[in-house]
Parts: sequence; structure tokens; C-alpha cells
Amino acid sequence: MCGIVGVTGTDNSVSILINGLEKLEYRGYDSAGILVNDSESNNHLVKQTGDISNLKKLVDNKVKGHSGIGHTRWATHGGVTVENSHPQFSNDERFYLVHNGVIENYKELKQEYLSDVNFKSQTDTEVIVQLVDKFVVKDGLSTKDAFKKAISLLGNSSYGFLLIDTEDPETLYVAKNKSPLLIGKCDGYNVVCSDSVAMLNETKTFMEIEDGDFLIVKPNSVFVEDKNGKEVTRDTFEVDIDPSEADKGTYPNYMLKEVDEQPNVMRHLASKYLDQDGMPVIDKKLLDDINKSDRLYIVGAGTSYHAGLVGKALFEKMVKIPTEVVVSSEFAYADPLLPNKPFFIFLSQSGETADSREVLSNINKKGYSSLTITNVANSTLSREATYTLLLEAGPEISVASTKAYTAQIALEAILAKAVGISINNEKANNFDIKQQLGLVATGMQAVIEEKQQIEEIANEYFVKANRAFYIGRGIDYYVSMEASLKLKEISYVQAEGFASGELKHGTIALIEEGTPVIGIISQDKTAGLTRSNLEETAARGAKIITIAKQSIAKDGDTFIIPDVDELLTPLVTVIPAQLLAYYTSLNKNLNVDRPRNLAKSVTVQ
Ligand code: F6R
Repeated sequence: MCGIVGVTGTDNSVSILINGLEKLEYRGYDSAGILVNDSESNNHLVKQTGDISNLKKLVDNKVKGHSGIGHTRWATHGGVTVENSHPQFSNDERFYLVHNGVIENYKELKQEYLSDVNFKSQTDTEVIVQLVDKFVVKDGLSTKDAFKKAISLLGNSSYGFLLIDTEDPETLYVAKNKSPLLIGKCDGYNVVCSDSVAMLNETKTFMEIEDGDFLIVKPNSVFVEDKNGKEVTRDTFEVDIDPSEADKGTYPNYMLKEVDEQPNVMRHLASKYLDQDGMPVIDKKLLDDINKSDRLYIVGAGTSYHAGLVGKALFEKMVKIPTEVVVSSEFAYADPLLPNKPFFIFLSQSGETADSREVLSNINKKGYSSLTITNVANSTLSREATYTLLLEAGPEISVASTKAYTAQIALEAILAKAVGISINNEKANNFDIKQQLGLVATGMQAVIEEKQQIEEIANEYFVKANRAFYIGRGIDYYVSMEASLKLKEISYVQAEGFASGELKHGTIALIEEGTPVIGIISQDKTAGLTRSNLEETAARGAKIITIAKQSIAKDGDTFIIPDVDELLTPLVTVIPAQLLAYYTSLNKNLNVDRPRNLAKSVTVQ
């Protein structure tokens, strides 16, 4: 989704902004722009639709800056045009603003305060910059007071704002509510960004900003006021990521790199969260809080929701607490009937998903405990939950989530084992998680090495397909949902993950000559039934593909997956599905890492 960068106090401003925007490309965007102000107080505004490469063509050596702001826009209000891209500016060209989020009452504000102003764009953002200008130029407020006044009118809107007053261009005005924003502290200059990845080449020291904060950032100082107008200091933290981890190196794209990294992510989780004897090392207070609860809720969206479904099986088998998995955007507004002692587990790669955050804000108001499992330290969901467990999978740049999904499941398994042994659960006691994660890593590697065969199947079955089905039962059904999401989002093949027994109750009507149907078969108890359901589709013309666990595989199975514990098979059965989606997208000449219409970090509801 939209990305923000800003800098003040260095003549390298243009390259810092452009590099920062390039690092944010993975979030998804459809236009980009920068405003820089050079040492002679000239403003240079450059905006363009499409890729950053389009923008770079317009940034010639006359575009110089000592401070500036930049933005990648993912259109919400108004189409993809240069006029609607950011920075937005006031009609007198004094104020420039970039914004992430949604201003809910922008139409009302326009009517009430700005009926005499000619607007150049359809954006909610332009309303705010025109409002600041009006409060300064017509009402005589200082820029600080005008900006604060504008913010006070925004109700419950979400925003990360970065404003520049070109009469004092070294001063950046910053405000945040429900949209991520960080300050990066550099030597003699400062930067602002919506994701630390954008500025890792400049600094590793970042300052958290809280909702409702207002900041004034200068080259050598950062002033912060909290939502009550009180001056405060905010903690800084170090981001322990080597900038090269966020590069794709020799890979043709990030998704392939991230798929390949999964065996190592498994090994790393085992070494981080298990001791030498393979026993989980997890905060005892967290385990006690989970044990005290009478129902677990796993909250997530998209792929994280799918990882939560596997988590339900893990927790119910090893912890014996009823577990519900909920889609965050639905649960936030469902007014659910909660038991006496619920415990909430948030799954989120980015830690910034607005839908999930809405649920967390609601449950925090009610005083319930929660855990966030995320890949991003200091992310909003991590800061606002009672506990955090980090995936430490390394930056996931490709929009399609792969290693975060498998890391979430592996960490859920470690947690379920930890809680399970604390209550002496037999399955948990016997579950050798260390050995299993080792088997999983080797099993993943074996599948990854079959890339060529997977690419051939993708070409034969999917590249020309309009529609496909993944089917399975139980845990295999959960993986089917994730597998079909991967195929849909990057290869644009309409795909559905289906409970295999449910097909004959209606959906089988969609099977026609040549429809690919992929059966996931990893559970002894249901393997025969899923095979029968596959036969039913074959009888109606479907082309059958199977992903089967070795010990129950049959002659003619397409992909045979090494055996791992039945609860952990999703970690391996998902790999061919990720690669099938990957090769389908690649061989359709689509943009694998940045599929159309999608954003990596979904910070609006
Ligand atoms: C799909 C995908 C999305 C995300 C979803 C939640 O590949 O990545 O479905 O899983 O937008 O994002 P996070 O996990 O960041 O909360």
C-alpha cells in the first residue's frame, strides 16, 4: 500500500528519496512522486504514474534537494493520474503533503472550510494541504498550529502525514494515526519512512511514533508531542536487518528467493525457540495466560488467516482449548459473543494490517490479553499486543506471502508444544518438534529441488487455464485454501480451495473438460476419501494432479512429499503449490512480485 519517505539536512536528498521509494515498491503502488527543496530554496516537484523507473526518467540533474518528501500511491480516492499522485500541494504552492491512510470526513471538511478553493485532484489528501494553507494564509496561524488544527478535525481517520512548508523547508511536520510511520536518526540529518526497509542504507536507529503523535523533524532534532499536546520522548530501537537481506541478489524475483529460504527459516526458528534438548523456550507468563483461557481466538487476514486454520488443529490437539480462527475484517464488526477468558493470537506478517489492528484495539479496550506473531519487530500489532513472538524470517518483499506462512505455522507448533507440555498433554509430550522441524526443512528442500518438474506441470495444466480447484480434507483443506490464494493472486487463474467432500454438493457443476483439480493428500484417515472425490471430478473431465505424502502415495501421484508429522504436513504440501503459482505467473509473463491491484501491507480497512 502507499509508502512515505522524507529527509532533511543533506544534499543527497534526491537519491535518498528515490532509493527509499524503490525499497517500498514491494508494498504495491500505481504512481509515485517527490518534492525536493534545494539549498537555493527552489522547489522541484516530480510525479509520474506507473513504476518508479518512470519517475526516475523525469529526475534530471536539475532536480536537487537539501530536504524533501516522497510517496508511492496505491489509489483509493480518485484514479491513477499524475494529478492524484502525491505530494499534493496547496494552490499557492507553499505547502506540500504526502499521506498514507484514509480521511473519512474529507468531503465534509471540503464543504465546510474550502468551498471557495479549486481542487486539482480527487484525493482526500489535497483537502488537508489546502486546509493547512487556509489556516496559515487566511487565518494567520503558524504552520505548526495550522497543521495541528487540521489534524484535530479528522475524527477517527487513518493517516501518516509528512508536510513541508517551503518557506522553512528544513522542517518536516509529521503526524500519525493508525498508519505506520518511523523517524530514522542519521548523522547530521534525519529521515522519515513508513517502513524501515526504505532507509536501511541510511540508518539502523529508528524512533517509534504512536497514534496521535505530532512531530517536528529537523536535521539535528526531533520534537514530539503526544495526543494530549504534551511534549514526550519516544524510544528508539535498532533494526537488525542487513540491507542486503532486502535485495534479491541473483534471483530473478523475490518470490523465488523467499520460497527457497523456507528450509532455513525452519532451522532458524528451531534454533531460536528450542533449547539443546528440543524443549521450547517461551515466556512463562505467556504460557500461563494461554493456559488460563477458556477459548483461543486466532485472528488474521488472507494467508495469515490460512496459517491460523492450521494453528487451530495444533492448539486443539496439543493444548485442548477450543480454538476459533477468525477473519479480522469480519470479526472486528461482528460484535462476537465472547467467553469469560478469551485469549487472542494475532497472525500478521507485516504487523500493520488495519483489519487485524481494529480487532486488537477493540479487545485492548476490553482488557483481554493477546499475542502477536509477526515478522516485523516494533510493528503496530506487536507494540499493541501483550506479547510478541517474532518470525525472524527476514524481510518478505514479494506481495505473495510464502515464508511468513510456513514460519507462522512452525511458530504456532512450537507454542502449542510449549503450552501442551506445561499441562502434560500426551500428544505434546510425544511431539518431537526439533526433529520434526528438521524433517520439514529437509522435506521442503527436496520439493524445492523438483522445480523443473513443477514448472512443466504449471505449463501443461495452468498457464492456459481459466479456473482450477485445490481440494483436501481437514488440514489438507486448509492448505488448499492457501494454495488457491497463491494461484489466484499472482497468476490470475480463478482458483478455489475446497473441502473435497463438499464439491459434490454443488460446485462440481463447474468441472468441465480439462479443469485442473489438485488433490492434497497427507492425512491417513481421509486419503481414500479425497482420492474418491478426485475420481468423481476426473469422471467429469477434470485433469487430476496430486500432492501426496510418501507413506500413503500411490502409483501415478504427481508430487510425492517426504513424511513429516501429520500436524506439520502443510509446511511441505504448500511448497509445490507455491511453486506452481510462481511458474504459472512467470510463464504468463506477469509481474510475479507485484501482482495487479494488490499491496503488501494492507493499512486501510
Ligand atoms: C497473500 C497475502 C495476504 C496477506 C494479508 C495479511 O499472499 O500476503 O493475503 O496474508 O494481507 O497480511 P499480514 O500477514 O501482513 O497481516
